[in-house]
Amino acid sequence: MSGVLPAPRCILITGATGAIGAALAEEYAQTGTTLILHGRRAERLEEIARAARAAGARVLTHCGDLREAAALRRWVAEVSAAEPVDLFIANAGVNINIGGDRAGERWEETEALLDTNIKGTIAGVDAALPAMRARRSGQIALMSSLAAYYGLPITPSYCASKAALRVYGEALRGWLREDGIGVSVVMPGYIESEMCRSMPGPKPFLMTPDRAARIIRRRLAANPARISFPAPLSWACWWLAVMPPGLAEWILRRLNYGG
Ligand SMILES: NC(=O)c1ccc[n+]([C@@H]2O[C@H](COP(=O)([O-])OP(=O)(O)OC[C@H]3O[C@@H](n4cnc5c(N)ncnc54)[C@H](OP(=O)(O)O)[C@@H]3O)[C@@H](O)[C@H]2O)c1
Repeated sequence: MSGVLPAPRCILITGATGAIGAALAEEYAQTGTTLILHGRRAERLEEIARAARAAGARVLTHCGDLREAAALRRWVAEVSAAEPVDLFIANAGVNINIGGDRAGERWEETEALLDTNIKGTIAGVDAALPAMRARRSGQIALMSSLAAYYGLPITPSYCASKAALRVYGEALRGWLREDGIGVSVVMPGYIESEMCRSMPGPKPFLMTPDRAARIIRRRLAANPARISFPAPLSWACWWLAVMPPGLAEWILRRLNYGG
């Protein structure tokens, strides 16, 4: 399946209470569109929903924790049976780092990150597939990161989780092509957000969430395998993955990502 897709009319966004998720909700909110917004913070979720309704969208909301995979799957299956989800943006995620003193990631936080970024994300997407496959239409966008190309020493688990989503998305895309379902892996660079602010290290080409959401929406319409941006950082990260590892290590140390 390739080519330009019809504009999605029913969009499910996880992490809609975060910087990128809220910007995506705003970007897709318009008359004739149904938004299904997921997040943990009820008040923030309602604020985002109010703004989207004011822009003309019909909005459904659901508060939940991605780490409660069984409950998440029940909800996704129910809502996917009731609403024809054209686009599922699996955006929610968390980040942790080794700390300014290089003490390392705390295991409890690592486990929570893996449960959220990998297990919760895949659990939600997987629960949406039966309805999409039965309809023979739909699109999945998996929020990975440029950090998925090469492991940054300051964020080992985060990089591993985003690499897992990248590879999962690539595999899903091949599998689901015959079912008429598009799959894109989204790999942003640094986007202003709470998560981005809490991450140590330089943040070249920092971008606003609104700009990121515009890029994601425009490029998702063409159902590409990968949406990686901004271009210079994407190019540099891709090279890190293909150059000799010793050279990549040396460059990261020089750029102060060395841990
Ligand atoms: N910002 C960047 O520089 C950047 C770069 C590349 C990729 N990304 C990816 O983009 C996505 C969005 O990031 P962001 O920058 O917008 O971060 P953010 O502002 O911190 O938002 C994170 C979102 O994920 C939700 N979330 C976190 N843990 C959850 C859980 N256990 N259950 C349900 N929801 C959960 C949060 O919900 P609540 O707030 O309601 O708890 C929030 O809506 C993430 O997957 C991130 O890895 C970000």
